[in-house]
Amino acid sequence: MPGPVAFSGEDRLAVGMTLKRVLFVCLGNICRSPTAEGVFRDMAAASGVEVHTDSAGTGDWHIGKPPDPRAVAEAALRGHDIADLRARQVLPEDFDRFDLIVAMDRTNQSDLEVLRPAGNTVPVRLFLDYADSPGSDVPDPYMIGGFDRTFALIESASQGLLKALRSA
Ligand code: 4NP
Repeated sequence: MPGPVAFSGEDRLAVGMTLKRVLFVCLGNICRSPTAEGVFRDMAAASGVEVHTDSAGTGDWHIGKPPDPRAVAEAALRGHDIADLRARQVLPEDFDRFDLIVAMDRTNQSDLEVLRPAGNTVPVRLFLDYADSPGSDVPDPYMIGGFDRTFALIESASQGLLKALRSA
């Protein structure tokens, strides 16, 4: 099994030695990306890594809404409180405001590339590139469920991302 991906030289320059600003992106911003934001911010805080985290959706259906109750319940079961988060849509300014944008699946990643302002070079990476299954998607649980499996993938990728940031 390949390990978590390391930051390339280019990414290292983008992240630098300063505060790391990480934006997690999915489709609705009510299931996967708020879970990723909540888990990653807790893990970073627990290990003393200073990060600024946020999440957003490529879609606009749930703007202003809290995470899906099933995502809130699954996170709570694993010790993370994500009930305070509120959905928003990705903005063109996000490409300048973050050092790294993390997409939950390949559709999110390609949708983000369409939104990227001309001249912007911020890395847009797939979340599971930091886990044991690089190149694959965090499955969307909104319609089909499986919040436990989604959570396990997010937890594993969060650990890998934190490791990559610490060694950047
Ligand atoms: P998420 O899940 O992208 O993980 O937040 C979804 C939530 C809502 C919808 C799609 C995916 N929706 O179509 O409303």
